[in-house]
Formats: sequence, structure tokens, C-alpha cells
Amino acid sequence: MHQTPPTNQRTSASSSRSPRHAAVVGLQWGDEGKGKIVDLLTSRYDCIVRYNGGANAGHTVQVGRERYALHLIPSGILSQGKINIVGNGVVVDPEKLLDEIDGLRKRGVEVAENLRVSDRAHVVMPYHKEQDAALEELLEKRSGKSGAGQIGTTRRGIGPAYSDKVRRSTALRMGDLLDHALLLRKLETICGLRMAELEALGANVTPLVPRELADRFAAAGERLRPHITDTVYLVHDEMRAGRSVLFEGANACLLDIDHGTFPYVTSSNCSTLGIPAGSGVPGRMIDKVYGIMKAYSTRVGGGPFVTELLDATGDRIRTRGREFGTTTGRPRRCGWLDLVAVKYSVMVCGADAIACTLLDVLSGFDELKVCVGYRRADGTVTDRFIPDAERMQGFTPVYETLAGWGRELTDCTDRDELPPEAQRYLAFVESFVGIPVELVSVGPERNQTFERAGGLASAI
Ligand code: IMP
Repeated sequence: MHQTPPTNQRTSASSSRSPRHAAVVGLQWGDEGKGKIVDLLTSRYDCIVRYNGGANAGHTVQVGRERYALHLIPSGILSQGKINIVGNGVVVDPEKLLDEIDGLRKRGVEVAENLRVSDRAHVVMPYHKEQDAALEELLEKRSGKSGAGQIGTTRRGIGPAYSDKVRRSTALRMGDLLDHALLLRKLETICGLRMAELEALGANVTPLVPRELADRFAAAGERLRPHITDTVYLVHDEMRAGRSVLFEGANACLLDIDHGTFPYVTSSNCSTLGIPAGSGVPGRMIDKVYGIMKAYSTRVGGGPFVTELLDATGDRIRTRGREFGTTTGRPRRCGWLDLVAVKYSVMVCGADAIACTLLDVLSGFDELKVCVGYRRADGTVTDRFIPDAERMQGFTPVYETLAGWGRELTDCTDRDELPPEAQRYLAFVESFVGIPVELVSVGPERNQTFERAGGLASAI
């Protein structure tokens, strides 16, 4: 599709103005349409950096008639001349990464020097996925109820891989795949221990053979060798050379291990707070944070969801929004927009502006509800989010009801063409959350997005 110029011939996308570095982060529970917004913003930045998560994320990007589902590779790969960096905070399944590279190449997308993977990113191994599934099944069995007791993970081995990172002695990093002898030595220690752990979880395990795994993953490492590097120096070198960087958060703020709805979260810092640790770039170097907010709420897996709709309205949102997981295909739980949660994420992530996605899905409702407070079981009301599943039990939403609009929005080519009710919906978000909605998306295509610096409220 395109040819990436060698590094030394690249020009700066931001050369006409002072370089600015930005971040894009989901403000809800993931699946906010970040892939599309990153893809759109990519033209303004030279490097796109992933700093957290792994193949649990799924970004869908529509380019013309082509639809791409990316899991590990930053969405910037679909644009010409960008450096796409998988930072040290990501957990990489090397075989999945190779599948993704092969899939893109088959469709004519250049994947060469434009993809760099940190030598310090941790590796997701097959036993991590077995462990993930075995633990989820064990928790389900223990609770005696289908789906209960579990986190509802994507079973991509994310939690076990991050656990090994923290445990240190059983961890593998991408750089280890480049040295067969070292890899084998490490696997000899890891495999015995891992077998014992899997058996204790009641998993039906095929014996782990260190040499087989070492051969298999050293081969993957060889194929990935041209991409594996010290990405911390790389990103700083790029910044010093005047090139601009966009940090792409995977998953979303409310799934953050420290600031999300614990324990129904993922295992990384997926708010912008993960950027410094996951990329080696201090937070103060980021000039602008875009928070991505879907016009309603969804989540996959377990955990608190105060505005969840378990009725025909929820089904209608799911059908209109095609709310089925990119990574797992699971139907997503759907509900009204929770502004208490969004405002909390804006605070934690330091978001400067909102990109509102999937506004078109809300066409055809007589009225729309937005959550502006939580009523506790004892009847008292709070406007504060509580990132703890136990402490959110029994919460019900306090709603503000806004007028809906009938007309489809997908043909709107400018924000002024939105029906007045849709403009008011966005203005309500701005006034409640306190930052502007600068981008609005009304369909999957690149051109179905409007932008206005400073937001919409001023236009109403
Ligand atoms: P894990 O990341 O596979 O361990 O899953 C932990 C929780 O995060 C589960 O509820 C997943 O469904 C959810 N999750 C992880 N990544 C994403 C994402 O990119 N979008 C939406 N939910 C996610």
C-alpha cells in the first residue's frame, strides 16, 4: 500500500509548527473507538507509541472499504511514514504479533522499519493463556454459577504475563528471544514451576518442554529481530530531533489496575498514568490528552456498570452500535452514558478535550438519559466515582433526561448539521465534565468525523 522511507529521510509531520506530543486514552471501559481517532490524529504526529496492555485490545480502523482489526500494532501502521512503537509497558504475544504483521503485509501494508518493539516488553507465552483460562474456570467452578466470580478476561494471558513481570524470576522479555541459549536457560527454570502451578489450578496441561518452547520462540524472535530495539532511547531520539509523538492507550481508564473498577480491571495502567512507566517518557512532556468517550456506555466482562440496560433499550443500542467484541466476539453490555465515570476518567487522565464517538448510534430514541450521580443503597447520592467493585454494589443511577433526535447522523459532514438535540447532548457533556468536545464521530469512515477546537458549547 505504501512504502516507508528510511528513518533518516523522514520529514517531521509537525515541522510547520512547534512539535507537540499528545496522548489518546479511553475514558470508559474500552471499545470507545480509539483506533479510529488515533488513525485520524496520526497524520499530525511522526511516532505512535503503545505503552500498555497486549493482544487483549482490539482497535478497528476503517480505511475506505478496508476494515483492519489491530491488536498489538499501533494504528499508525496504516499511515505512511510513521514510526510505530510497541513500548516496554506492553505485553507481547510474539506469535500473535507475527500473525498481525503477516496479515497486514498480505493486504499490502508495509511493515518494516516503521514498526519497533521494545526489547524490554514482556512476553506472553502459551502457558500464560492456559493459566488465564484455568484461573477463570476455577473461579467459576468455585462460585457455582456460570460467569460469576470471574473477572471475565479476554483469556489472552495478560494477567499471568504481568504477574510474571512483577515476580521477575519467571519473566521473559522480548530481548530474551534473540538469544537461544539464554532463552533455554530461563525456560528450564520457568517450565517446572509453571507445570506445578497449572496442575494446582486443575488445568489439563500438555507438558511444557523447555527446548521445544525455546526453539519455537527463538524462531519467532529471529523473525522479529529487525523490529526489536531499545524503544526508550528511540522515542527520546525522535523527540530531540523535533519529531512529535502520539501515545496510544489500549483498554481504557476504568480498566486501569490502580484507578479502574478493581478487581474487574486489566493488569496494566491503561490511563495516561501508564505512559511514563510504559514508554520511558515523563508525563510532563505530553502537551495534550484526548479522552475518547463513546456517546453511551459499554463494557465486556464482569464488574460494576451502574447505567447498564438489561432491557430492549440495551438490545437496541447493542444492535445499532454493533457492540460485539473485536477481540473475543462477546456481546458487550450496553447502557446510558455515565458522566460521573467520564468526569472521573478526565480527572485521572488529565484529559484536555473529548472525542465523542458513535453519536450516530443514538438516533431514533425519543429521549436519552445521562447519569449525573449515583444513589447508594442507603438512599444518599454522590457525584464521585468509586474505583472499587465492592463499594459500588447497590449503586443506582441518578439520571438527567435529554431530548432525543430522529434523524440518522451518518450523512452529517459538519457539526453544525447535527440536529439541535444532538448538539445539546454534546453541550451537556461539556458543561458537566468541564472540557470541550473537540471531535465528534458519526460513522466508521475517516471522513465521518468533525472537529472544532474549543468544543461545541460555544456554537449553541
Ligand atoms: P484481561 O485484560 O484479558 O485480563 O481482561 C480484564 C478485563 O478487561 C475484562 O473484563 C476484559 O473484558 C476487559 N478488557 C481488556 N481489554 C479490553 C479492551 O480493549 N476493551 C474492552 N475491555 C477490555
